[in-house]
Amino acid sequence: MPDDYRVAVLVSGTGTNLQAILDRVHADPDSNVSVVLVVASKDDVPALGRATAAGVETAVVGMGGRERAERDAELADVVAGARPDLVVLAGWMSIVTNVFLDRFPDRVINLHPSLLPAFPGMNSIEDAYEWGVRVTGVTVHFAEEHVDAGPPILQATTPVLYADSPDDLRAKVRELEHDLLPRAIRAFARGGVTRHSDNPRRIEVVEEDE
Ligand code: GRF
Repeated sequence: MPDDYRVAVLVSGTGTNLQAILDRVHADPDSNVSVVLVVASKDDVPALGRATAAGVETAVVGMGGRERAERDAELADVVAGARPDLVVLAGWMSIVTNVFLDRFPDRVINLHPSLLPAFPGMNSIEDAYEWGVRVTGVTVHFAEEHVDAGPPILQATTPVLYADSPDDLRAKVRELEHDLLPRAIRAFARGGVTRHSDNPRRIEVVEEDE
């Protein structure tokens, strides 16, 4: 296990998942994980305050009316400057292209609030609720240019009860996210995530012993 496993986190909003990473892995003295950089897509998002409160360096890389490829080249330079072992899209609400992804092969992961491939896109929790599924969940997957399409690393499920309101379901999914994303980061940090050589969609994940 490396002494110091460096993680960059990309955010666009409230940052509750960033907070879970900060609390559950970054601040854990038994963990080798350090969040070394938080990048936001806008300068007024609450997630930036969470990073600053934890003493983590921050940066803002917005779209600024330019081509996505140009934004992604700058984003890659900023992230590469922090020398991350892993890049985590934790509520990063903007498509990233291969201009960015190719700079960090097999090292960019995304969090999505459904059991992919069901309910990709922006309104997954509401879509799953309206569709009437009896089980939904959360996916941590390798990021690919095609949104919400990369292979799953970890998934977790929750039942959808008849009595659940949309808010109840959102709360359940959020709780799963806050558990699953730190788990995935820990698995990477112990060298426990391997892509199958013949089929890179098949991922082996070895987690720490309970
Ligand atoms: C999460 O639900 C994540 O799955 C989605 O955006 C949300 C971010 O929430 N992609 P937060 O900013 O971490 O609170």
